[in-house]
Amino acid sequence: MSTANVQNIKAEPLVELKNLSISFGGIKAVDNASMELMPGEVVGLLGHNGAGKSTLIKILSGAYKRDDGEIFIDGEKATINNPRDAKAYGIETIYQTLAVADNVDAAANLYLGRELQTSWGTLDDVAMEAEARKVMGRLNPNFQRFKEPVKKLSGGQRQSVAIARAILFNARILIMDEPTAALGPQETAQVAELIHQLKKEGIGIFLISHDIHDVFDLADRVTVMKNGQIVGHAKTEDVTKDEVLGMIILGKCPTKAIPGPGAMEESD
Ligand SMILES: Nc1ncnc2c1ncn2[C@@H]1O[C@H](COP(=O)(O)OP(=O)(O)O)[C@@H](O)[C@H]1O
Ligand SMILES: [Mg+2]
Repeated sequence: MSTANVQNIKAEPLVELKNLSISFGGIKAVDNASMELMPGEVVGLLGHNGAGKSTLIKILSGAYKRDDGEIFIDGEKATINNPRDAKAYGIETIYQTLAVADNVDAAANLYLGRELQTSWGTLDDVAMEAEARKVMGRLNPNFQRFKEPVKKLSGGQRQSVAIARAILFNARILIMDEPTAALGPQETAQVAELIHQLKKEGIGIFLISHDIHDVFDLADRVTVMKNGQIVGHAKTEDVTKDEVLGMIILGKCPTKAIPGPGAMEESD
């Protein structure tokens, strides 16, 4: 085996969040939170509404400025002070709100605000549609409705357009904050399929939800938050759904999980 292969085995975390904290008006929304994400890994971030999940992840996406802590990308300390910094590191966020422009087609959505131009300075619709077909083909090979305004598409198809937009510009770290909250069961299954596809491409995904059922079957690991603190981290293969519910509701860490600062004290 070559040295290169040996090095490949010891993969470096794509993202490391270390001891992040942020307060709003004296209330610690995120309190000394650490977690990591490997390439091609799906980490479910779970916790009740108000636990601090979105706030933690908004520090990574540059939407909020942390009071304390550090972020490492590919093992190197990252400077993320605004959304533009985050994008430069390949960090993209998909929201539940299906953030697409309703009245234009998929290609126009992918290139919204960063349209391709011909050498004449006009919009290069041909090139944009060709690229759109390529990237959508990777994600959702059955998708053919390139010429229709996206308002005519199903929720799942719209979400695949939003995801395609993110990965078109080389997202390596995808934050999905309650991505299926606005979708029906069939469309949710479609998003699950997209997530499998993105994993295969080595993209790391933070999958955030207040509902364990949205996350458990898709995630390689889960991290649970409560009252702004990390309760613990666990591989999904090592724990049951009931144990993860115990983490979410009681802050109780099962033996196979790694406890965080928010884990309930042992009381035996
Ligand atoms: N911009 C803000 N200003 C004041 N308080 C905020 C702000 N953003 C979040 N919070 C508070 O931080 C806490 C965590 O919220 P949030 O991260 O949205 O939780 P979750 O995503 O887990 O439901 C809540 O108490 C919320 O009210
Ligand atoms: Mg939230």
